[in-house]
Amino acid sequence: MKRVSAIILAAGLGKRMKSAMPKVAHTVLGNPMVWHVARAAREAGISEIVFVLGHGRESVMGTVERFGGKVAVQERQLGTGDAARSGLSAVSPRAREVVVLCGDAPLIRPRTLRSLVAARRKKKAAASVLTGILPDPAGYGRVLRNPDGNVARIVEERDGDATVRRIREVNSGTYVFDRAFLARNLPRLTDVNAQRELYLTDLVVQALEEGKVVVPVVAGDPDEVRGINSRRELAEATALLLRAKIGALLDSGVTIVDPGRTYVETEVSVGADSIIEPGVALLGSTRIGRGARIQAGCVVENSRVEDGVRLQPYSVLSGARVRKGAIVGPFARLRPEADIGEGAHIGNFVEVKKSRLGKGSKANHLAYIGDSLVGRKANIGAGTITCNYDGIAKHRTIIGDGVFVGSDTQFVAPVTIGKGAIIGAGATITQDVPPYALALSRVEQKVLANWVIRKKPELLAKAGLKIPKLPKGEAK
Ligand code: UD1
Ligand code: CA
Repeated sequence: MKRVSAIILAAGLGKRMKSAMPKVAHTVLGNPMVWHVARAAREAGISEIVFVLGHGRESVMGTVERFGGKVAVQERQLGTGDAARSGLSAVSPRAREVVVLCGDAPLIRPRTLRSLVAARRKKKAAASVLTGILPDPAGYGRVLRNPDGNVARIVEERDGDATVRRIREVNSGTYVFDRAFLARNLPRLTDVNAQRELYLTDLVVQALEEGKVVVPVVAGDPDEVRGINSRRELAEATALLLRAKIGALLDSGVTIVDPGRTYVETEVSVGADSIIEPGVALLGSTRIGRGARIQAGCVVENSRVEDGVRLQPYSVLSGARVRKGAIVGPFARLRPEADIGEGAHIGNFVEVKKSRLGKGSKANHLAYIGDSLVGRKANIGAGTITCNYDGIAKHRTIIGDGVFVGSDTQFVAPVTIGKGAIIGAGATITQDVPPYALALSRVEQKVLANWVIRKKPELLAKAGLKIPKLPKGEAK
């Protein structure tokens, strides 16, 4: 949309949230609510987005940066009209239309914004207003209409009488304005109302005084106009967006065994024919390929899981990559920069951090692999640990292709194991091992025959074993 800018009102603290953090920074399905509003504006085709910030603005800066937005600071929260005035001062002079959105209404959709712009243009109106017909309109400003169907006034609940409060058509707080109209009329607002604030909604009356109209556009889905003022409403909005996200995945060919017990954040993608089992949480920027199976209780955050991967129950991934056809879990933990090769296996109670495991390698039980580079088809035995940290710095362990690591081995990094080598079980490896070598670091085993009979016969008795006679000649 050319020459259309957006202003997002987001300076309020939101007292009813009972939070130290500004309301608009609270997250809905993984992103701050104001992020959802900005995304709707951007997807509607609006490139310039001005964020009006005040309370706790630091916590909103991440969102501003993600959209390359501008910030207008509203020092004192004197009302939505004053917030719009702050915002307009940062809008580029080229913009001819301004979309004003509420930072606390994250369910708004791009398509609705486009139709709001189209409705204003069609009627050459001063503004268009998105409204909704709610079964319970409590707390919202009510929309009074003229006989011609256009908006006559918007009255806040606190300023309205019983007749006004009975009206079920509410103001969503989303508008499109003719820029010149907005610039001319914002300075004329007054605070003669119950809250002693400058109400943006009073522009309706000013439009009528100028002989112009304000057109209402009723949202097809009344949920879209919901504003969030409390934690209760935050939870309700999250549930609505979650249901929509899950619905979209189902429609795209993903099996979700129990939609009511599956949590998927906004930016997650899942390929067709993947199966998501109950109790799974897919978070952040996670991408799951096609034909993957994510079993019960897995938590996958900012990770990339390729086609055909199986994540067995209760595996936890964060910032990891699992390549095609690999099998992970149950109870595996993949931390940032874990990169599991094609067809590799990571088994129970295995933790991997900042390490690459080559194609077809296996670490099936109880291991810690950190700061390592493991080649192809290597086998990491149960209980293997890379001692990557000496208390001051982290060091690398490099394990070549086809290396066989016996159980209960420690690699004291930095250390390099050449391809095809074998590490005998129970080794503490402190020096490099050349290719094809066998490395052992155990003390030789000693066996003292019949020692128990001689020194600890009471143990045998306790276990209910008969105490055998010592062979002739063996001293007692
Ligand atoms: C506002 C509307 C109301 C509408 C409702 C929809 C007015 C006067 N009322 O009421 O008609 O039904 O939204 O949700 O506009 N903000 C600022 N600076 C301020 C005041 C508010 O940036 O000085 C921001 C808030 O951070 C919030 C948004 O504007 O994101 C709406 O403010 P809020 O106080 O929640 O307005 P409501 O009372 O809900
Ligand atoms: Ca509100």
